[in-house]
Amino acid sequence: MALWSGRFEKDMEQIVKQYNASIGFDQRLYNYDINGSIAHVTMLAAQNIITEEEKDIITDGLEKIRKGIEKGEIVFTYEDEDIHMAIESRLIQLVGDVGKKVHTGRARNDQSAVDVKQFLCFELKEIVKALIEMEKVILRKAHQYKDHITVGFTHIQHAQPVTLGFMFMAYFQMFKRDIQRLIDAYERINWCPLGTCALAGTTIPLDRFMTAELLGFAGPTENAMDTVSDRDYILEFLSAASISMMHLSRWAEEFTWWNSTEFSYISIDDGFCTGSSMMPQKKNPDIAELLRGRCGRVYGDLMGMLTVMKGTPLTYNKDFQEDKEYLFDAVDTWKASVVIFTKMLEKTEYRMDKISAQLENGFLNATDVAENLVMAGIPFRQAHHITGRLVKLCENNGCRLEDLTDEQIKTVNPDISRATLGDISIKSCVENRSTFGGTAPVEVQRQIENGTAWLENISKEWS
Ligand code: ARG
Repeated sequence: MALWSGRFEKDMEQIVKQYNASIGFDQRLYNYDINGSIAHVTMLAAQNIITEEEKDIITDGLEKIRKGIEKGEIVFTYEDEDIHMAIESRLIQLVGDVGKKVHTGRARNDQSAVDVKQFLCFELKEIVKALIEMEKVILRKAHQYKDHITVGFTHIQHAQPVTLGFMFMAYFQMFKRDIQRLIDAYERINWCPLGTCALAGTTIPLDRFMTAELLGFAGPTENAMDTVSDRDYILEFLSAASISMMHLSRWAEEFTWWNSTEFSYISIDDGFCTGSSMMPQKKNPDIAELLRGRCGRVYGDLMGMLTVMKGTPLTYNKDFQEDKEYLFDAVDTWKASVVIFTKMLEKTEYRMDKISAQLENGFLNATDVAENLVMAGIPFRQAHHITGRLVKLCENNGCRLEDLTDEQIKTVNPDISRATLGDISIKSCVENRSTFGGTAPVEVQRQIENGTAWLENISKEWS
């Protein structure tokens, strides 16, 4: 019979035990459960609710259980229900009646939350560190390719020339926001639920500030009812995970088409590709594709958890037990994805020969022609129209804008000439886009310097 079975006449049905149990997945929290219990009894002793000796016996017992689990000597079954009951029942077996005091002034509702929050705070920092490592690689690449011009796309159509360094810095900004989202969420997550008990606090004179401090939290949560019914910390994390996985997935998508035979802008390292069991020539970008697929998985975790929460009244409901698998899956998937993408990025070769060959196609400098006409005094809407006609003329003649003769240009508008179109070499087009946030190498340099300073600051605090 379970530790809580006093008011029951008979044991749970076997299939109910299996259905009810969370031990299959929440055993992953054993370290945090033990840390929480040790902090709890330390506080109980300081408050003279148990004796120092009882605290020591319980703490020793819990440390023995920790070792037993680490060594694989303690094996759990669904009879254990969850990690909280599993450890408490073994503690009582090990140290006898003193062990029955560990759950004084505590419920599994706050215990489960304090375990998950410790886990989450730890893993959140691990993911911040992984993202910081990724940002370092991105900054290195941005620096390396600061002056290398590539095709900028909208609608997957040639749009305007940009530098590769500029593109890298675009990705840098995305992952910067991901890091900021985590740090911001951490400020709200890092509050200790322990001692809020079932839903209303307790008559036992706990010191919640002490347990919060012992466990490294910023302080105790403010309202017991809210605390045991709150899963916002998981939802915020899953939201941040979903957005970040979406960023990775978009970049992974770019990798797959940039790596295609048609584009060949990049060559993904052999170590990050797989072959075909049938077609001997194949080298497939499976890791990039898997990343894209796993983004869907993390969205599923978020949607699942949002749905779990939507019909639950105050306060704790057993539905909440479902939180762990969603969270664990998202932590594992996100962390592994950031690490593997960072390594793949580091080793990816950018084929400047292939990229440069495309710069002359698709009128990447058309906007520059229009803007030069504007600077020559023609209103923008008219300049846009004239340039559109010039593009059409080029298409009909199979030439580039810079190849048009005065004669050809005057068929579109007699008031302008080749000279009015200005310097429209691809290099000048890039160099002249020096507005704040633009693609000119001087601007990219500024962005790199800003990014480097920001990252150094964050690294000091978070890695
Ligand atoms: N295994 C449960 C969970 O993870 C622990 C809390 C159980 N509380 C309860 N009142 N049944 O949510």
